[in-house]
Amino acid sequence: MPDGGSTRRRPLIAANWKMHKTRSQADAFCDVFLSGVGERGTADAEVVLCPPFTALSQVALRCAGTDVRVAAQNMHAEGEGAFTGEVSAAMLLDAGAWGVVLGHSERRQLFGETDAALAEKVPAALAAGLVPILCVGETEAERDGGETEGVMRRQLDADLERVEGGRLGELVIAYEPIWAIGTGRTATSEQAQEAIGFIRLLLAERDARSGEAVRILYGGSVKPANAAELTALPDVDGALVGGASLDPDDFLAIVEAAG
Ligand code: PGA
Repeated sequence: MPDGGSTRRRPLIAANWKMHKTRSQADAFCDVFLSGVGERGTADAEVVLCPPFTALSQVALRCAGTDVRVAAQNMHAEGEGAFTGEVSAAMLLDAGAWGVVLGHSERRQLFGETDAALAEKVPAALAAGLVPILCVGETEAERDGGETEGVMRRQLDADLERVEGGRLGELVIAYEPIWAIGTGRTATSEQAQEAIGFIRLLLAERDARSGEAVRILYGGSVKPANAAELTALPDVDGALVGGASLDPDDFLAIVEAAG
């Protein structure tokens, strides 16, 4: 790897609100969270809120002029067209989005999101100027069957197939073991470091500099009590937080712990 791994990666903490919060609830969150960030700072972490589409522009307006960024939770690869219920990269940018979560396991498992679709979505997001936050991770049965690395290799090979090696460092990857999402069961530090170190190696095989620069998050039952330990691991650059990101004080505590 060039430069002996001297690249400093800025930590990133993202709040995945999933299908939670109306506009007024999002506003109430911003009242508390943004004033907390204003007073206490983000300890150098980059902070991203991922509201549902309906609250996206509202939250983006609230965050304008702060360091807090906004990302969507899904996107269609095409620029426009007859795709009822879908939203394009241009629409997300217009609503004030900085990035977009792609390939979350809930979308893969509940809504039939495929690696083939992600192979279109990831480069489309990048080309439009959105930062893709691509989620990968194994089920409990796959982990028990010793397939964790194989699953990640398969997902990343397919989803990133059409991204040039030199651009992989612009992405954010979230390692989210499915058995740890919303279950209260967090991966151990050893499991998180091992999986995320492996993802970095996979990307470095494509482009050494990108492997060093890409930010890789851990997600799955992150809370204020475990955020510092998980995000201090050498290859872990932050967290994608679901349930604990709905409460502004809890999310603030996670941001502080991880910065
Ligand atoms: P959780 O969700 O923090 O509620 O486990 C994480 C995620 O799905 O991104």
